[in-house]
Amino acid sequence: MTFSDNTVSVVIGGTSGIGAAVARALTRRPGCVEIASRATGLDIADAEAVAAYFRKLGPIDHLVVTAGSSAPGGKVADVDLDAAKAAFDVKFWGSVVLAREAATVMRPGGTITLTSGFLARRTVAGTFVKTAMNAALEATAKVLAHELAPVRVNVVSPGLTQTEAYAGMAGDARNAMFDRAAATLPAGRFGRPEDIAQGYLLAIDNPFVTGSIIDIEGGALIQ
Ligand SMILES: NC(=O)c1ccc[n+]([C@@H]2O[C@H](COP(=O)([O-])OP(=O)(O)OC[C@H]3O[C@@H](n4cnc5c(N)ncnc54)[C@H](OP(=O)(O)O)[C@@H]3O)[C@@H](O)[C@H]2O)c1
Repeated sequence: MTFSDNTVSVVIGGTSGIGAAVARALTRRPGCVEIASRATGLDIADAEAVAAYFRKLGPIDHLVVTAGSSAPGGKVADVDLDAAKAAFDVKFWGSVVLAREAATVMRPGGTITLTSGFLARRTVAGTFVKTAMNAALEATAKVLAHELAPVRVNVVSPGLTQTEAYAGMAGDARNAMFDRAAATLPAGRFGRPEDIAQGYLLAIDNPFVTGSIIDIEGGALIQ
């Protein structure tokens, strides 16, 4: 995909973590990069706000969505359903609304790249909200790739990646989690935001990629 001074890329979730790394990479190309999140005044759980955002923005070329990293843990029997539904409202329904609204202003050759996570296809007790939300997103993206063609729609599925998403954990526990991942994953490391950002660039740049799930997870799915 050729970038020009007129190319407009939008990264929703671009204020932090993986989205910020994607935005940094796109900023090195010609054109402009718009980033948005609640910090810039856009809550993607608010469908009307999302529609107004794209109406105001005008024509775009690429949409990347990395917003919404939190979801309650716990067994199906125990999980707080209101918290689970709120997580879906942001990551799942927010991504659907973003794709729907972005498609109305997308120029020919445009792309939409959403974000799931390795738990979509790795089943671990106590993580069903992430599993369900990310699996639903992957399935929906494939449907969107049909319905929105020739706009290309893909999903990047990250593995454990060191981002601000884990800022709320105690430092020792967080370091232990990343050390354990580096020691056990086939790739011998945990993910950095820049590792994952390359998946979005592939989805944007390769004109033969649509309806794809791009796994960048250090081998977590073959463990
Ligand atoms: N990091 C990992 O280990 C990992 C693993 C698997 C999958 N993933 C997925 O990768 C994606 C990015 O994760 P990350 O680690 O980069 O997370 P992060 O650093 O927490 O960034 C999340 C971004 O989403 C935005 N956001 C959250 N709620 C929002 C809302 N309601 N409306 C608009 N923006 C919202 C945040 O900004 P505001 O707070 O300003 O809104 C922030 O920019 C997520 O979908 C996550 O599930 C991450």
